Amino acid sequence: MNNQDNSFFVIKAKENGVNVIGLTRGQDTKFHHLEKLDRGEVMIAQFTEHTSAVKVRGKAEIFTPYGIISTED
Ligand code: TRP
Repeated sequence: MNNQDNSFFVIKAKENGVNVIGLTRGQDTKFHHLEKLDRGEVMIAQFTEHTSAVKVRGKAEIFTPYGIISTED
């Protein structure tokens, strides 16, 4: 596994129907996971052997080791 970073990130939904989309690691970058969060729901996740990128669609706060990032409305 080429991912040595064990840190977590947290996504907090600020509206209903926020989409958290996991994208595959490796040659092909494809959607492999879709998680739907309603307002106030929180998802705690890591990057893994299978997941190298995450796309967040909808109003949410994302807590990362680099700071807190908010998506736009
Ligand atoms: N089975 C996926 C994996 O191990 C689950 C996962 C981990 C995931 N981190 C994620 C899904 C972030 C969506 C977003 O890679």
